Amino acid sequence: MSEPSLPALDDAWAIFGASSGLAREFARHAARHNRPLILAGRDVEDLELDGRDLVLRAAPAVRTMKFDALDPAAAAQAAGTLDAALPGRFNVLIAFGVLGSQAEIEADPALAQEIISTNAGAAIALMLALAPLMERRQGGRLVVVGSVAGDRVRASNLVYGASKAALAGACGPLRARLARSNVTLTLSKPGPLDTAMTFGLARGLPLASAADCARDLWQAAQTGKPVRYFPAIWRWIMLVIRLLPGPVFHRLKF
Ligand SMILES: NC(=O)c1ccc[n+]([C@@H]2O[C@H](COP(=O)([O-])OP(=O)(O)OC[C@H]3O[C@@H](n4cnc5c(N)ncnc54)[C@H](OP(=O)(O)O)[C@@H]3O)[C@@H](O)[C@H]2O)c1
Repeated sequence: MSEPSLPALDDAWAIFGASSGLAREFARHAARHNRPLILAGRDVEDLELDGRDLVLRAAPAVRTMKFDALDPAAAAQAAGTLDAALPGRFNVLIAFGVLGSQAEIEADPALAQEIISTNAGAAIALMLALAPLMERRQGGRLVVVGSVAGDRVRASNLVYGASKAALAGACGPLRARLARSNVTLTLSKPGPLDTAMTFGLARGLPLASAADCARDLWQAAQTGKPVRYFPAIWRWIMLVIRLLPGPVFHRLKF
């Protein structure tokens, strides 16, 4: 982090994967609502530039923090830093993730380990490291970005879908535990979004705007909604997809 102590950061948002298209838009909402921000990611210099822009947008303070999800020490280090820096209640957005192409993964199955470690292993480790801090403070919002892909895993997106299914699985019991300390956990489940992650992908589906998704997620977080599909129609699409019998679902080409 650029400064060791941040006493002014009450009710701050700590954003992990802060360079992501979705997280950048979310941070702008936090800034507009005068929330202090801690931006965590791999490229701190890049985040410093974002931080200057967010201050211009009314964030009262922005700090940056190095965070590489694949570093096994990262979750504990992040928790230690936030514990020292944020004496009051704080909120967290976990937005980092990698997609990976199924063809590349099948050519090099070791990539599956990296994707699952990032999207599920590191995100769950971070949630577990931050949970006791938020419980001690008796409040706060934890927002985790999953995906509709985790609702029913497709063969063409097997590793990413499995990673988001694992992440969603961990959110249920953690939400119940955190609720006892007045901490809410919102699991975001976007459909395809127009961000760097989907750049160049040939898809039949239209891409939703990351700015619209962030606005919707900001509102969902304020009221502690447990699960938020975006666009909302995905709740019903995924309900139908989950109800399809296995032999039918696995014959579908998508
Ligand atoms: N785009 C979609 O269609 C879509 C749909 C549903 C859900 N989501 C989810 O939405 C979230 C945000 O994705 P996005 O669409 O905004 O994509 P994005 O712009 O590609 O962002 C991905 C983010 O993950 C970070 N990241 C990747 N590996 C990391 C690591 N080892 N350590 C720390 N950070 C790491 C990247 O950091 P660097 O800048 O350092 O690479 C970047 O900030 C992800 O969880 C994604 O799975 C996306």
